[in-house]
Amino acid sequence: MSTDPTLENLLDEHRRFSPSGDFSAQANVTGAAYAQAATDRLGFWDEQARRLQWETPWRQTLDWSQAPFASWFVGGTLNVTVSCLDRHVAAGNGERIAIHFEGEPGDTEQISYAELLARVSQAANALTELGIGAGDRVAIYLPMIPSAVVAMLACARIGAVHSVVFGGFSAEALRSRIDDAQASLVITADGGYRRGAATALKPAVDEAVANCPTVKHVLVVKRTGQDVALTDLDVWWHDVVDRQPITHTPASFDSEHPLFILYTSGTTGKPKGILHTSGGYLTQAAYTHHAVFDLKPETDVYWCTADIGWVTGHSYVVYGPLANGSTQVIYEGTPDTPHQGRWWEIIDKYKVSILYTAPTAIRTFMKWGDEIPAGFSLRSLRLLGSVGEPINPEAWMWYRHNIGHDNCPVVDTWWQTETGAIMISPLPGVTAAKPGSAMRALPGIGAEVVSDHGEPVSNGGGGYLVLTEPWPSMLRGIWGDNQRYVDTYWSRWSQFYFAGDGAKLDDDGDLWLLGRVDDVMNVSGHRISTTEVESALVAHPAVAEAAVVGANDETTGQAIVAFVILRSGADIPTDVATELRAHVATEIGAIAKPKKILVVNELPKTRSGKIMRRLLRDVAENRHLGDVTTLADPAVMMLISDGMAAGTEQD
Ligand code: WTA
Repeated sequence: MSTDPTLENLLDEHRRFSPSGDFSAQANVTGAAYAQAATDRLGFWDEQARRLQWETPWRQTLDWSQAPFASWFVGGTLNVTVSCLDRHVAAGNGERIAIHFEGEPGDTEQISYAELLARVSQAANALTELGIGAGDRVAIYLPMIPSAVVAMLACARIGAVHSVVFGGFSAEALRSRIDDAQASLVITADGGYRRGAATALKPAVDEAVANCPTVKHVLVVKRTGQDVALTDLDVWWHDVVDRQPITHTPASFDSEHPLFILYTSGTTGKPKGILHTSGGYLTQAAYTHHAVFDLKPETDVYWCTADIGWVTGHSYVVYGPLANGSTQVIYEGTPDTPHQGRWWEIIDKYKVSILYTAPTAIRTFMKWGDEIPAGFSLRSLRLLGSVGEPINPEAWMWYRHNIGHDNCPVVDTWWQTETGAIMISPLPGVTAAKPGSAMRALPGIGAEVVSDHGEPVSNGGGGYLVLTEPWPSMLRGIWGDNQRYVDTYWSRWSQFYFAGDGAKLDDDGDLWLLGRVDDVMNVSGHRISTTEVESALVAHPAVAEAAVVGANDETTGQAIVAFVILRSGADIPTDVATELRAHVATEIGAIAKPKKILVVNELPKTRSGKIMRRLLRDVAENRHLGDVTTLADPAVMMLISDGMAAGTEQD
């Protein structure tokens, strides 16, 4: 170990899983893509941009002269929805199913590409009638229903900029986002179905727009039929959209025309509106969806479980899959309604072949028990993906075995709202993947792990993840605050984009994500990643999920405090805390042994499933709890802090 490592490298993983010969033989992308992109990076992206339908070709691939503000495919014009819809219909694939919709109560809809184009055309005509034009901002606050996809594409079709706000966010969160973007229209619904009940959405919109003078209309989809108090601003979707012509002549927009703003779920301060534009964004969304998911439009049934309120829903439900002519499943509700096998039932029903979900969901299924997926066939699956957080090696193994029956490549995909599309991931037909590792930057992407001084670390070393080259789907700034863009991402090292994540390279040079650098723990001068200690805990057969934080400690600076959720049906040792501490010591070393271990039933998570370690630090340091309003379930924190007061302490 070097004398002053930026981040310790503790966990050692030697398992590797190569794709089968059959999978590799049919894969969309071979290992040659790496060499091709390395030889001529811009030429490589030119070739990927030709996957789209352009109205006017671009003159220049990349203009980086205004760094860190990029322009890609300069001079090119296109309508993003033509690549996602019209061209598939024109190619004779209008009857192909674009969306198999499964509502939570069990209602379903099968929407073909021709039908989706007709709906988007009607909605685009309606938006125009409501006075929305190119460049105007439209806030979308909807449940996970087909109208959400239609609303986004209708905006894109007329060059309006959508800002989707997750339907679970509060009126205040919605208000601040409408206000920041100065949106002139809000598209919402009476409500949606979640956990077996109709949940209202409209009252939050009423509260939000009462203080937003820029909003001229609220367009309301009828989903649940629950009572809605109509205001002067409101128009029903079925009144204004359904009577529109089903054709719409699309205009073309500049490659750098803004496509959407998406606010990141920051915990404090003003919301950060991440801005994405058209040609480069769609190029990378489409290429990565083709390469990483090996998508075969004629035969695959693809299911990404993300809500459209998150970037994953933008790039891998709406833009990437539709650009590639995919058939996909969209599900409105929660995985345990009406029973804990709902997802597996949906996979069998639609013969889903590609599943893309988050580690938080996988660890929840581990907690519920292996017997639930074992009650379903799941034989249609051929590829599994993960995104959103580091996936612990044991969760990866569980996913591969219990869901993928040991014959599906698992791709752990690293990216961010800011990157717009996948950046680091195995290629499923090429990579011998290691459980828990995102492996390598995709072809055409530059990523490195660097020390505090910005020097690349050698294999076996840990540090900060940076992106070394501009990429087509990169954010073009923060809406209304370009200085904040420069300060947040380009000030630590001016030549690199700083992602805010810790990472390490193993002895083979493969990349492991180690969590947000703000969460790194410092124990007796050793900088230890939360991810590695959590992965060691999850590797114990009794543990389904774990979160660790560094709490102030007089002796060691910080001490590790662990919160663990046990697996249902597992053999639980009598002194579980002692056993788990010993287990961590064996797995990764005594330095990482938690000082305290607390068994809990739930962890505080954001609504997109990320663990909020900041709140656990408050508990561990006996502080008054910070802001809990972005939590999926604020009651969880009360239970945890009560448990902490009665918890076990070990030295
Ligand atoms: C984390 C989600 C480890 C990371 C697409 C990143 C991951 C943040 C992974 C972005 C992964 C996402 N392994 N960590 N495969 N994927 N993250 O903006 O900390 O919601 O910076 O975008 O999630 O979250 P965001």
